[in-house]
This record gives sequence, C-alpha cells and structure tokens, in this order.
Amino acid sequence: MKKIPFNKPSLVGSELSYISDAISRGQLSGDGHYTKKCNALIETLTGAGKALLTHSCTAALEMAAILADLQPGDEVILPSFTFVSTANAVALRGAVPVFVDIDPETLNIDPAAAAAAITPRTKAIIAVHYAGVPAEMDALGELCDRHGLMLIEDAAQAMGSTYNGRPCGSLGALAAFSFHETKNIISGEGGALTINDPDLVVRAEIIREKGTNRSRFLRGQVDKYTWVDIGSSFLPGELVAAFLCGQLEQIETVNAHRLATFDLYNEAFSDLADSGRVRRPVVPGHCHANGHMFYLLLRDIDDRDAFIAQMREDGIATPFHYVPLHSSPAGKNLARAAGSMAVTDDISARLVRLPVYYGVMDETDRVINATRQYLERN
Ligand SMILES: Cc1ncc(COP(=O)(O)O)c(C=O)c1O
Repeated sequence: MKKIPFNKPSLVGSELSYISDAISRGQLSGDGHYTKKCNALIETLTGAGKALLTHSCTAALEMAAILADLQPGDEVILPSFTFVSTANAVALRGAVPVFVDIDPETLNIDPAAAAAAITPRTKAIIAVHYAGVPAEMDALGELCDRHGLMLIEDAAQAMGSTYNGRPCGSLGALAAFSFHETKNIISGEGGALTINDPDLVVRAEIIREKGTNRSRFLRGQVDKYTWVDIGSSFLPGELVAAFLCGQLEQIETVNAHRLATFDLYNEAFSDLADSGRVRRPVVPGHCHANGHMFYLLLRDIDDRDAFIAQMREDGIATPFHYVPLHSSPAGKNLARAAGSMAVTDDISARLVRLPVYYGVMDETDRVINATRQYLERN
C-alpha cells in the first residue's frame, strides 16, 4: 500500500530556472538580485515596512530578541504551546521566557493570561499564529501599548493569513516567518524578519550582517565598513533566495490549494464534530487563515495514540504536535510558567494533524475514509 506522508515539499515549477539564472548572474552570497526580489515580494505580501530574508525563522526570532534589547533577567511572555525556537531566542539573550496558557478555541496565546503575567521585568510579548490562524492581535497590541512592551509575531506558519483584513507580518513591531519545507512557501530552510517600527531597520540590517554596517556601506551611506554592534550571519545565499522567489510568486495558488484541502477535511468531519466525537480547527470570523494545517482534537491521549497507530497501519502519517515547553527539561531550567497551563496540557495531548501539502488532493479520499473508520469504530 502506498504510504501517505504528513508533508511533501511543495514545488511550483520555476525553482530550477531561477537557480540557474542566479548562478549565471555570478553572485552566490546573500543580498544579491534574488534576495532583494524576495524582500520586496514579502513587503508587498505582508504590507510590512521592511522585510529581510534570513536563513530560518529561528534566525529571525533571534534577531527580534536582539532588537527588543533583551537583557539578562528580562521577561518575555509567550505561549508554551509553540516550537522551541520561540523560547530559545529569549533564553539565548539571558532573558526568561514566561509561558502562559492558550485560548481553547484558536490555540493561540490567551490575552487575559498574558495580561496577568506582566511584571516590572516584562519587555515583550511573542504571539504565535498557530496553524496560520492569527492570534488576537488587537487585544495584545492594546496590552503592549499600555505597558510599554514590544509585540512580536511568530508568524512561522502564517504567510498569507490576515487579521481584520491586515496581513500577518504587519501586526507587531517585528514578525518572523519560516520557509522550512513543511510550510506553505518553502526554500528547504529559510525565513524572514519583517520590521514595522522604522527605528529598528538600521540596527536590524547591522545585526543580520554580523554586526557590521555593510548594508549602509554598499548603499554609499558610510565610507568604511566596520564592526558596530553584536550580530551574526543571519542571511541566506542567493541560491536559496532564487528558489524562494519562484515560490513567493505562486503564493496565491499554493495557499488556495491548501485552503481547498482544509475545506475538504473540514466538511468531511462535520457530522462527527456535530456529534461531539472530534473538534475541528476554529478560524474566527475576523481572521483569514492560509490553510497551513488541518488538525483534529480527539478525546484524550489514549484516543490520540490509538488513532495515530491505526492510521500508521493504514500507511498514513498523522503526527501530534508541540510537547508543551513548560514541561520540557530546558523549559523547567530556563523559563517559568505563569498561571494555569490546563488548556495547553489538555490540547497538546489530544491533537493530531492530517496530511496537507501541495498535491495531497489525490490522497484525501484515503485519509478521510481511514479517519472516519477509526472515529466511527471507537
Ligand atoms: C511557531 C514556530 N516558530 C518557529 C519555527 C522555526 O522555524 P524554522 O525551522 O524556519 O527555524 C517553527 C517551525 O516549525 C514554528 O512552528
């Protein structure tokens, strides 16, 4: 029986010709023709003031943590239900990730829990747009304004999603995107930082260029290129940017395909959701999601594990997702939880993800039938 993977890298067709063109242009290091094209495309897609390509979302988050000027002992509020990179970026600055619970509907950071976790040491809030569904950015923005905090988006999964008509990537002072091969728009490994606070742009360029003012030097704005700040090598090479450029140009097609898959799954399990057997993702009316992920919430961890095992026997990969960071060894050492983590603990034990990738439409009948068979029998 043919196996159905959870993910297949989505190719749009122009990748090789763009890579070949990048080679013929003669610059393989970063910030050449294709990097600039990608930055401009991301600025158009997100409406952000400035976009800078990075080699991963992890790198973009690390840049954001430097730009937030985090000092040892400072605190940053974020959900525990996220990827390690969100918290690592904070911990790498010697600051303390403070985990709060998520909203049981959207699985995004709960603004009330975030408000309750603020202390005099709090410097920023990082909102993760889980499954490409935007977090409650208005409430979080008001909270940050009131307390003088920086609002950062972890938009790893949210390229093409909007909140009240405004694109993810334009909603915080800074936002980090991922182009890892599991995402909608990919370059194998890849990412971008978008910057909406104009005061942060020059420093962002410096941090990304190993702490040097190389970008200003190349624009003729300074006559010497020198070490001026901390930084690292956060930019990708031109071959990666060329691959990504073709992908970004096709975002509407790719996201439409993923949304069609999402709608198909959503419809296929509506009766089982109505009867209370499963719960499907919730996309609030004021949000538009990008079809990044389709998940189901099962009864409990035993139901979840039995489902994954049965699907594996049927040749279909349906993985669970984040293990809550507050319960991880590094989370216990380097971070702390503020308030109850009941929703995070409950949801993370019950969630499974169904295959969603460009081309999965040929396989969705098998996924739906196998899922329904399990749910109806158990
Ligand atoms: C919410 C979130 N943040 C950050 C990352 C890290 O992305 P990257 O692999 O591009 O560094 C991921 C990866 O899946 C993620 O889901």
